[in-house]
Amino acid sequence: MELKPFSNKIHGNGIIIENKNKFSNKDILNIKNIFEKKGLIIFRNCKFNPKNLLSFTDKFTFQYSNDATRRDDKFGSKKIKSVDKGFKEIKLHSETSFSTNRPEIVWFYCKVEAEKDGQTTICDGMKLWELFDYNLKNFFLKNPIKYKLRIPIPGMKAQNKKKKKWILSSLGTFDAEYNYRKSQIEFSLLRFAVTESRIPDKLCFANHLMIDLNSEPQILSRTLSNSKKIPREILKEIKNLAKKITIDFNWEKNDLMMIDNYRFMHGRRPYSNKSKREIVNIQSRYANFGFGNYTRNRI
Ligand SMILES: [Fe+2]
Repeated sequence: MELKPFSNKIHGNGIIIENKNKFSNKDILNIKNIFEKKGLIIFRNCKFNPKNLLSFTDKFTFQYSNDATRRDDKFGSKKIKSVDKGFKEIKLHSETSFSTNRPEIVWFYCKVEAEKDGQTTICDGMKLWELFDYNLKNFFLKNPIKYKLRIPIPGMKAQNKKKKKWILSSLGTFDAEYNYRKSQIEFSLLRFAVTESRIPDKLCFANHLMIDLNSEPQILSRTLSNSKKIPREILKEIKNLAKKITIDFNWEKNDLMMIDNYRFMHGRRPYSNKSKREIVNIQSRYANFGFGNYTRNRI
């Protein structure tokens, strides 16, 4: 494997890995080690194709996410999904960070690159947190965000029941109610916008605060825990800081990107509706290695 630094806008620079040979078991362990420290790996010129993609991601995955039904299956697999539909800009977010199903690793694979525009945007939440001043840090350490959510869960049916109170096995969830008639669950979720990372004592600002709510139909509202609005000047400040370290990534055919979704946010620049751009998405709900497994030893 050949390793190259990716960008100085990332804490630790991220990594580009090139490999013309098959990945050995030793390589896989090495990649897990690099991933935990760097948080973002781009595999380039690695002989990936739509058919062998999952056999590679399987090596890092304990369980894949059941993603939103809005996404289409790709390459004949339920685990490989289309990215968000349309050609419009999608602002920075950490995948499904508002829900109980947030994936640990997000993968993107480029089957066809856009001829022009349509870059994937990437922002390192660890670097972003380092740019925050005392007031911003204090605000987000003090105030969890409250999301009100409506999530479709098809398949559950019961006679003579319209709604039932529900308990979800996830901290910060409350007032959950399953609607049998509509096959959906509504609940509130309290979640800090800043999270602990795989690296001890390092925090990451990775969340759903910058994305427009019309890009996420499952979010009914996004407020402070007392239901008050998140102050506009706070949102403006984080957007301005994020802009300074956001990378516009230009895809090459067969590139694969591996992202620590508890650390990084991603998005998409708009592109022409005539473009044949085809990027697919795989979500590892749980990695098959412990959170901090490789950052807590010194080998
Ligand atoms: Fe996304």
